[in-house]
Amino acid sequence: MARLKVGILISGRGSNMAALIEATRDPSYPAEIACVVSNVASAAGLEIARKAGVAAVAIPHKDFPDRESFDRAVSDELEKHGVGLVALAGFMRIQSPWFPQHWAGQIINIHPSLLPAFKGLHVQQQALDAGARISGCTVHFVTPELDSGPIIAQAAVPVLAGDTAGTLAGRILRQEHRLYPLVVRWFAEGRVRLTAGRVEVDGVPQGATLLFSPDP
Ligand code: GAR
Repeated sequence: MARLKVGILISGRGSNMAALIEATRDPSYPAEIACVVSNVASAAGLEIARKAGVAAVAIPHKDFPDRESFDRAVSDELEKHGVGLVALAGFMRIQSPWFPQHWAGQIINIHPSLLPAFKGLHVQQQALDAGARISGCTVHFVTPELDSGPIIAQAAVPVLAGDTAGTLAGRILRQEHRLYPLVVRWFAEGRVRLTAGRVEVDGVPQGATLLFSPDP
């Protein structure tokens, strides 16, 4: 069967992108990375993608007069590569409503908190400030409202005494690198169903939630 073509949008480091590229090295993995697009020309992830042989382009948002014209240029690039699933991976640009509407049901994001807790920026510090004992990451469908689309899967980690935003971010990131390739696999296998705003994943007994061990 043809592999699902995934387009990844990044703005920086690209470690989640790298985890997805790594997963596709397994010939039995049902998805491939068709292209990577960054809104920041200096994003380190672009070079990582190119070194892995993946088409990677910068489309600087500053070159466009408004959000939607930038979004349409990104979308054209994704469509040029025949993308069937858009994965936001540290893409730190707020999109116009046009983009998630155009890609409805085919666009997902990974966020470093257990949504709906802690949206927006500096979310690990938000978790520490709130005294949360558990945090984690969420993969969700993207809708026009920021960090609010239907949840597909989550992985939880403990918040430990003495944690800083940096140590907590690192613990969450290790789970992000496990969770995102798993969810993309589910998509490629056609197992993710969105019905009336709720997500069901065929064959995942707990519905859409996973609890990983604290650290691999
Ligand atoms: C990741 O922790 C990702 O969850 C987060 O940015 C980081 C990107 O790291 N995304 C968001 O906060 C989106 N709201 P990466 O570039 O190494 O994948």
